[in-house]
Amino acid sequence: MSTVVPRPDAAPSWCAGPYADALRTGRGPLFLRRPDGWLLPLDVERWCAAPDPADLSALRRCAGPVLDIGCGPGRLVAALAALGRRTLGIDVSEAAVRHTLELGGTALRRSVFETLPGEGRWGTALLMDGNIGIGGDPAALLARVAELLAPRGLLIAETAPVDIDERVRVHLDDGRGRADPDEVFPWARIGTPALLGYARAAGWQVADQWSADGRSFVALRRRDPREGAAGRAARGVPDPHRAHPAQHPAARQPRPVPASRPDRDTDHVRTAHHSADPANSAAVTSSHRVRNTPAGRVVDRS
Ligand SMILES: C[S@@+](CC[C@H](N)C(=O)[O-])C[C@H]1O[C@@H](n2cnc3c(N)ncnc32)[C@H](O)[C@@H]1O
Repeated sequence: MSTVVPRPDAAPSWCAGPYADALRTGRGPLFLRRPDGWLLPLDVERWCAAPDPADLSALRRCAGPVLDIGCGPGRLVAALAALGRRTLGIDVSEAAVRHTLELGGTALRRSVFETLPGEGRWGTALLMDGNIGIGGDPAALLARVAELLAPRGLLIAETAPVDIDERVRVHLDDGRGRADPDEVFPWARIGTPALLGYARAAGWQVADQWSADGRSFVALRRRDPREGAAGRAARGVPDPHRAHPAQHPAARQPRPVPASRPDRDTDHVRTAHHSADPANSAAVTSSHRVRNTPAGRVVDRS
């Protein structure tokens, strides 16, 4: 059973404009830009290249069929497919999905918050390259990923390499003034301590955490819903029905700061937006798990 988060706004955000152009050329500059001018550079060149050693450190830990959430141009989907691992990329951006298909991967144009193939059966979900920020509410995204994974399935998430827990509203900007400030969407940046706080409060087990090439990663194991309180207590995992996220420091209410703070990507600027990123849902690929129909519907045959 899936929770489909209603679309709080219809901003195309990642679906066209500067992001599509950057994926077409394989180059930036591209930034997430806050209305007050703060910029977070996006590593388009790396996303469009072959997986690097830090990527491979995450791919080595994957188990079972892999769902790459926000797969972008698809370097990880293609690499996993080449290794013979059953992998599906999902992304709201048509350009990203097309690129993934061109690399030989399987991908679907769909938001993580919409109904997806194989819900409850994925062995590993990937949230790489800052994608834990999708929707601007890490706790909500963790809850959604828990629905997608099989019992004891693995979430591998890349975290910000600094101790941060921030919610922002941003738009995509190519640095040349080609940006539509109306296309603002919620995003989050979260470091490992904060992610572990959210995860533990929701009953996830920490399977691993590591750094590679200056990037930070966490592997979380989904609790088996059939597992009782005794098993959790033995592992020191709080009962998710008792633990309230607010009990963990990382999950405290964000502290608003003035919007006029300087342009620093290390600013812990927090706003209280909790809406999920909207997306289109046209299927643009086929595989043994999903296929196109003439009407563009996706059929889950897994
Ligand atoms: C920070 S980029 C990460 C790029 C990607 N991991 C890569 O390897 O190139 C975020 C990606 O997530 C996608 N995205 C944003 N919101 C999404 C959503 N609700 N569901 C699925 N994908 C989403 C964007 O289109 C974009 O490709």
